[in-house]
Amino acid sequence: MSHHGSVRTALLWLISMICFTHVALFARGQAPDTLGFISIDCGSPPSAAYVDAITGLPYVSDADFIDTGVSHNVSAEYVDASLPRPHYDLRSFPTGARNCYTVRPLTPGTKYLVRATFLHGNYDGLGDGGLAVFDLYLGVNLWRTVNISSVSSTFRAEIISVVPDDYVHVCLVGKKGLGTPFISGLELRPLADELYPIVANASMSMDVHGRHNLGPEERMDVNFRYPDDPHDRIWKVLANPRSWIPTNTTAAVLNVAQDQFLVPSAVMQTAATVDDGFSLQFYWDADDSNKAFVYYVALHFAEVRALNSSEARICEINLNNDLWYSKPISPVYLYSGAVFGTVTGKTQYNYRIEPTNNSTLPPIMNALEIFLMVHTAERATDGGDVSAIMAIKAKYEINRNWMGDPCGPKIYLWEGVSCNYAISSPPRIISLNLSSTELTGEITSAFRNLTALQTLDLSLNNLTGNIPEFLALLPSLAVLDLTGNRFNGSVPESLLKRSQEGSLKLRIEANTSSIDNGPSKSDSQPRGTKRNNTAVIVPVVVVVVVVLLVVAVIVTVLFCRRRTENDPSVRPLNGSHSKEENEDDVSLQFDNRQFTYKELETITNSFEKSIGKGGFGVVYLGYLEDGTPVAVKTRTESSSQSHNEFLGEALHLIRVHHRNLVNLVGHCKDGQHSALIYEYMSEGTLQEKLREKSPDFVPLSWRQRLRISLDSAQGLEYLHKACKPPLIHRDVKTANILLNGSNLEAKIADFGLSKAFNNDLQSHVSTRVVGTPGYLDPEYYTSFQLSEKSDVYSFGIVLLEVVTGQPPILPESVHIVQWARQRLAKGDIESVVDGNMQGRYDLNSVWKVADLALRCTEQASSQRPSMADVVVQLKESLELEEGCVKVQSSYAGSGDLYAESGDARSQSTHSGVALDLVGPAAR
Ligand SMILES: *[C@@H]1O[C@H](CO)[C@@H](O)[C@H](O)[C@H]1NC(C)=O
Ligand SMILES: *[C@@H]1O[C@H](CO)[C@@H](O)[C@H](O)[C@H]1NC(C)=O
Ligand SMILES: *[C@@H]1O[C@H](CO)[C@@H](O)[C@H](O)[C@H]1NC(C)=O
Ligand SMILES: *[C@@H]1O[C@H](CO)[C@@H](O)[C@H](O)[C@H]1NC(C)=O
Ligand SMILES: *[C@@H]1O[C@H](CO)[C@@H](O)[C@H](O)[C@H]1NC(C)=O
Ligand SMILES: *[C@@H]1O[C@H](CO)[C@@H](O)[C@H](O)[C@H]1NC(C)=O
Ligand SMILES: *[C@@H]1O[C@H](CO)[C@@H](O)[C@H](O)[C@H]1NC(C)=O
Repeated sequence: MSHHGSVRTALLWLISMICFTHVALFARGQAPDTLGFISIDCGSPPSAAYVDAITGLPYVSDADFIDTGVSHNVSAEYVDASLPRPHYDLRSFPTGARNCYTVRPLTPGTKYLVRATFLHGNYDGLGDGGLAVFDLYLGVNLWRTVNISSVSSTFRAEIISVVPDDYVHVCLVGKKGLGTPFISGLELRPLADELYPIVANASMSMDVHGRHNLGPEERMDVNFRYPDDPHDRIWKVLANPRSWIPTNTTAAVLNVAQDQFLVPSAVMQTAATVDDGFSLQFYWDADDSNKAFVYYVALHFAEVRALNSSEARICEINLNNDLWYSKPISPVYLYSGAVFGTVTGKTQYNYRIEPTNNSTLPPIMNALEIFLMVHTAERATDGGDVSAIMAIKAKYEINRNWMGDPCGPKIYLWEGVSCNYAISSPPRIISLNLSSTELTGEITSAFRNLTALQTLDLSLNNLTGNIPEFLALLPSLAVLDLTGNRFNGSVPESLLKRSQEGSLKLRIEANTSSIDNGPSKSDSQPRGTKRNNTAVIVPVVVVVVVVLLVVAVIVTVLFCRRRTENDPSVRPLNGSHSKEENEDDVSLQFDNRQFTYKELETITNSFEKSIGKGGFGVVYLGYLEDGTPVAVKTRTESSSQSHNEFLGEALHLIRVHHRNLVNLVGHCKDGQHSALIYEYMSEGTLQEKLREKSPDFVPLSWRQRLRISLDSAQGLEYLHKACKPPLIHRDVKTANILLNGSNLEAKIADFGLSKAFNNDLQSHVSTRVVGTPGYLDPEYYTSFQLSEKSDVYSFGIVLLEVVTGQPPILPESVHIVQWARQRLAKGDIESVVDGNMQGRYDLNSVWKVADLALRCTEQASSQRPSMADVVVQLKESLELEEGCVKVQSSYAGSGDLYAESGDARSQSTHSGVALDLVGPAAR
């Protein structure tokens, strides 16, 4: 029911995407400056300006955006034609705790993509000794830590953020003992409001963790950016792992109306897919393994092939084994679609895009974006205050640490500046102490704009000219100290008036020039004002401290609240996220129905078709009333199994439900006759599949073998650990692994010999000789006891058969363990691997399984792994073979990620090293 509903909704969504299609057009020939782009080449000579050869965008020197730092060229060995020109030089900051660029003009309230690039290039001749770790701030908020871990690699930090003012500060803050901060390039690209609406205001930004283009030919190590992407986002080519199949179209892929991502056609035209029946997988690790980080993920899909009416490409998106998006999706031919949402609470994010049962085509994915949400709620100082204080700084050429935002972050508060941090409005400058700072000239009118100023101390400078009238108009000014300057003229009436009223503490004495209505006459606070001043200032300081505390508490509360708002919820397109139980825990429909002998005759058409012979009797094919095929396992009179033992199996089975265990449909106990009725497994046994010799048979591929092994291992693990009391199978063999359906789902069969054993008392059972020659635990011959590890041994034999295609006892009466162990010990895997696979497998994956098989078949049971370990190892082998792709952070990890754009030398050697295959790169 709900399935039909959800599919219908998905289809409606897709149809609506088609019907309301409107293509956003971007004027390609537009002059870049009208795009609002700002492209700064840090460290280049002051007047330098050029057009970048790769993007065709104009770059300018950073000289007008910063007044600290030292320019350097990178070492000549890093410069060649493939190195983008902004990386030829850089600006380093050997002094100052914080060094800031002031980038303007911007459009206030606009969303920008801000990109900072870094290439060390041995600019300082120190080689690796010059590497650095430092913090990058966007305005007053920490953006990210930059770790330059390689001299030759380009690093890139990108953030999407709403900029509230007509400027933005980008600041570098060094870390003690961790090298000299530097920067090579700074780029700002405005984004339309409709893009990435999750970034709705300045309080939350997104650091670009990865932006990937899937499916271009591997040798194509080009990253798409401007002009392919009108917003100059950089789409890093995600190299194809071995098992991904690149596919593409030459037709344009269009964006739908109100598309939140506007992925360029050139990026969507290529895609990755996989072999039939397989899923597309990728994962990334949370930065610093921090579970609290919130990521925003957007998966981009478009069909690149016109499907005929019998074809369908339908897939489901899973995250760490839970359904991530509640509906099956079906990419639309030549239209971009996206599934997106936030994820958090994990140290690793594993995505699996799986075909649904009725999909005739494997999944496809065209592009992928991953962002880390960054709190940028701390507000920058009031814009009017900032422009006033910048004017003051310029007028008196004040150096100090006056860079970036005056009030924030608080640890980088400008020297001599105090601020008021209100909750609902930006910080204001409330006090300015410029005493003894060698100010000369007149009092600038810029002071007039510091309208929140309460204290102004300009004492002990060389200020000249008249004392301006406008000082009396500063509404909050309570203390004004002008002592020790060389003013002329008279003190304005308005100031004197405020002073006499007591609303202003005014100090003007000891001016060397004559002041008509001099201080001693009119100053209401002659002499001793210093003491009074402290009396005024102390309460101010107390107020500030209290305000700071309140702000701190509120910020903490807000922050915590925001954290919970960004819980591990997924907010996908159209509809809510439905969480499903882990597959392993989902019980299959189980109907332990009781059959009469008559019914058995009917459903088997009088036992017409025998499909096998078990240890108990013949197995017949039957059909239930609704046509469901079943296997009817009868007990013959000659069977060594007693009636009760036989039905005892049924009792076990009633308790046992797992998708990798053959399902019991019902049983029959009718006089002399007893039978068990199972689901029918259409593809027979694993043994048949491995040994089949007929000319037209298709041998199992390595992936199929791995999946079958994993399925059966999961079934056994369940028997051992999930069943209460646990069960030992006691006859694990390839003939007891049954296969079903075109995807060869494997299930463990034949629990005839399974016996419950009391886990609390003993972990083994004593019984008569059981099992099958070749599979039996060697310890049994000395102890006559079987334990879970006996199943592990037998399963090890199964794994060896899967790898080699050989039976447990080879024709020359050699046991498979002995045979394989000898060869593998010499590192010779080729001579043991089943030749039917024709070399089509991932060697690491095969090695891993061979290793595992040898460990399972150790003589001493204590040295064998548990089935749970076996499952883990098989999963890793499958990942190796299927090529589950690790999506590295664009920034962190190896700088080789950016081979394309910076590391001139690694460009040829590591083209597109964006991926790590999962698991150890064994041997
Ligand atoms: C595909 O399978 C789902 C169940 O997985 C079913 O609800 C749906 O109707 C099928 N869709 C198509 C297009 O066949
Ligand atoms: C960098 O190199 C250019 C010429 O290639 C030169 O003009 C410039 O002065 C150099 N800059 C520094 C800081 O050495
Ligand atoms: C910087 O990166 C390198 C290499 O990835 C790592 O070894 C080092 O610990 C990092 N430094 C810091 C301070 O994170
Ligand atoms: C910013 O946006 C978030 C989410 O869209 C909203 O909850 C919050 O109130 C906004 N903050 C401001 C200051 O507008
Ligand atoms: C598209 O596919 C063709 C054939 O598979 C291939 O030759 C070509 O390089 C591909 N184009 C891109 C852009 O990947
Ligand atoms: C001061 O404010 C006025 C009016 O708001 C503005 O025109 C002027 O540019 C400001 N001056 C400075 C230095 O910020
Ligand atoms: C003030 O200016 C005079 C002359 O211009 C100079 O001699 C004196 O040193 C200056 N005093 C201070 C404190 O800068």
